Amino acid sequence: MTVKTMQTAEVQDLLEKVAGFNKEGGNERVKTIVHRLMHDVFQIIEDLDVTPDEFWQAVYYVNELGQNGEAALLAPGLGMDKYLDIRLDAEDEQAGLSGGTPRTIEGPLYVAGAPQSEAFARMDDGSDETAEIMILTGQVTDENGQPLANAVVDVWHADRKGAYSYFDQSQSEYNLRRRIVTDENGRYTARSIIPSGYGCPPEGSTQQLLNLLGRHGNRPAHIHFFISKPGFKHLTTQINLAGDAYTYDDFAFATRDELVVDANRIEDHAEAEAYGLNKPFTKVEFNIQLVRTDKSELQSRHERKRALEGEPA
Ligand code: BEZ
Ligand code: FE
Repeated sequence: MTVKTMQTAEVQDLLEKVAGFNKEGGNERVKTIVHRLMHDVFQIIEDLDVTPDEFWQAVYYVNELGQNGEAALLAPGLGMDKYLDIRLDAEDEQAGLSGGTPRTIEGPLYVAGAPQSEAFARMDDGSDETAEIMILTGQVTDENGQPLANAVVDVWHADRKGAYSYFDQSQSEYNLRRRIVTDENGRYTARSIIPSGYGCPPEGSTQQLLNLLGRHGNRPAHIHFFISKPGFKHLTTQINLAGDAYTYDDFAFATRDELVVDANRIEDHAEAEAYGLNKPFTKVEFNIQLVRTDKSELQSRHERKRALEGEPA
């Protein structure tokens, strides 16, 4: 059955009332967005002849998504975080603020307030004794290669099971999360363990939809960064370790060629000793270029709900 009702006065009038256009008060921006949103939902129902059965399946899907706390997991899976990045890149270009290390998505697993130290941090709690040791190191510079001292490198990553502390309550507090302030040469170094890629909960709402799309819910092994310094654009980024099966097939679309980094096994004793180690390890080097700006609103991370953000340390 194909019926067309969208252009009728009845439906147009309904949409206006749904969005509260005929009422004083409320928020104009929200009204505008809800009007457009519901228009587009109605239009999809019309164009694709969505049946009541399909519609109510979608409604109860959204219910379950919320109950499972997976809305911020589905969003990157549907390319929304990537799309926001595409827009931010385009805005930077328009404002003449392109360049430096590329951004990529934050993801939903940041926790604010990780311990902070100067130049070096040990990120793992030592509980995974057989994990491969990772030395993560690099230099933060401006676009001309000038070292930036006192930049804050906020790093977080998953453990060997692809799980993140705080969300995985079996891990210790702030395990695999640290803030490192760069030294006078702009350098930072972390000792940690090689992470595994994240996978969506197999029985969760996100994976349920991905299954219907014929898609997997996996990310490659990766490491997240916020890098900030007054006078420079805040950078949200990640590196993906080369050689992972999902390096170029990330369900969250966060991979960028410039952010694929080799993980190099180091067998050399002297180099291990230089990092206080007595066995081979894997070295990951990531140098970061920040872009200057005097716009203060670009110097800190954008607002969104984050675990422990705004809470006393
Ligand atoms: C992550 O960074 O691990 C992540 C990103 C998007 C969705 C799920 C996880
Ligand atoms: Fe992650």
